[in-house]
Amino acid sequence: MISRREWLRVTAGAGAAVTLGACGGNGSGEAANAAANGGAAGGVGADAASQTGEMILRTIPSSGEQIPVIGLGGRWISTNSTPEELEEHRAVLHALANGAEGMGRVFDTAAGYGGGASEEYSGEWAQEDGFADDIFWASKVNVAGRGGDSADPEAVREQIERSFQRLRVPEIDLHQVHNMGDPPTQLGILQEYKEEGRIRHIGITTTSEGQYPALAEVMRDYPIDFVSVDYAIDNRTVEELILPLAQDEGIAVMVYLPFGRTRMWARIGDRPLPDWASEFDASTWAQFMLKFVVAHPAVTAAAPGTSNPDHMVDNLGGGRGRLPTEDHLRRMVELVEALPQA
Ligand SMILES: NC(=O)c1ccc[n+]([C@@H]2O[C@H](COP(=O)([O-])OP(=O)(O)OC[C@H]3O[C@@H](n4cnc5c(N)ncnc54)[C@H](OP(=O)(O)O)[C@@H]3O)[C@@H](O)[C@H]2O)c1
Repeated sequence: MISRREWLRVTAGAGAAVTLGACGGNGSGEAANAAANGGAAGGVGADAASQTGEMILRTIPSSGEQIPVIGLGGRWISTNSTPEELEEHRAVLHALANGAEGMGRVFDTAAGYGGGASEEYSGEWAQEDGFADDIFWASKVNVAGRGGDSADPEAVREQIERSFQRLRVPEIDLHQVHNMGDPPTQLGILQEYKEEGRIRHIGITTTSEGQYPALAEVMRDYPIDFVSVDYAIDNRTVEELILPLAQDEGIAVMVYLPFGRTRMWARIGDRPLPDWASEFDASTWAQFMLKFVVAHPAVTAAAPGTSNPDHMVDNLGGGRGRLPTEDHLRRMVELVEALPQA
């Protein structure tokens, strides 16, 4: 079987013209391209994969590469995790990788997560268990703190090199500047790695609304491939500026905090899922919330965080089957706005 990395070499730059047999196959790729190009022709519910129950793929505009629309956020793997918790995290990563053979599953981590443990353990498990090639490795660098401070270039390079060592891969699929830390310095260094062929895509992240104007400036001024931002059914500010700008600039979008961590779970409580969620193949609240964010045509992938393998399987269901129509999206928002605040 051709490994994902070999596949990427063969197909580099040809994303719009090729489709994979696994994880979507014919049709879904073209629909994903339409969505990535801002089209979502015929409405978001018209995505071919969404009609068949296959995993929906989306295209990274700058490279043409396709990735599954649901991934995993690895923020919870930590040096403080107990051996039992680490076993659970390992099973979560297996559930992600087993979701579709031979297709790069997005795993979002960062040098700063869990004191480096998120990169270290995920890299070790993926090598030991033989699925390192099937992961789309997305990590982050930041030696400048949130926003303001300046980054020491030597420290930036050291942190990036440590990420390579911990992840145990020769290439990182996506490396982003974490939390808007000193974009000129840190994005400049990431760009050098990209030119050397060691990092395949670069980007920048924030989950703070106050940083959206600065993020928009970076999106206009730097040749980035990705932005990663907070977006949830009850947190839709990115729809105003960031998501349309990403479509205009041809920048992929990764969604963080699709459940608002514990916020949406507290708001939902033990309410039953509405019957009409079955009209877009959502059978759980997690799928309901994930389908809301991935229905936006600017969204390339969502990275919900979980430490529970059953939840990982549940979340993957958020990327299969039909997506909500515009009418559903309106009803979903109305329903959520009527819930108590957390
Ligand atoms: N600035 C940044 O760059 C930045 C900031 C924040 C987050 N992130 C990224 O975004 C990722 C996601 O954020 P997050 O994990 O903080 O928040 P989140 O994805 O909004 O929510 C995670 C919470 O939802 C629960 N959950 C997940 N799937 C579930 C399911 N199917 N059913 C019931 N509960 C479920 C998890 O509990 P269980 O563990 O019990 O499943 C956890 O409590 C992070 O891991 C990180 O990779 C990046």
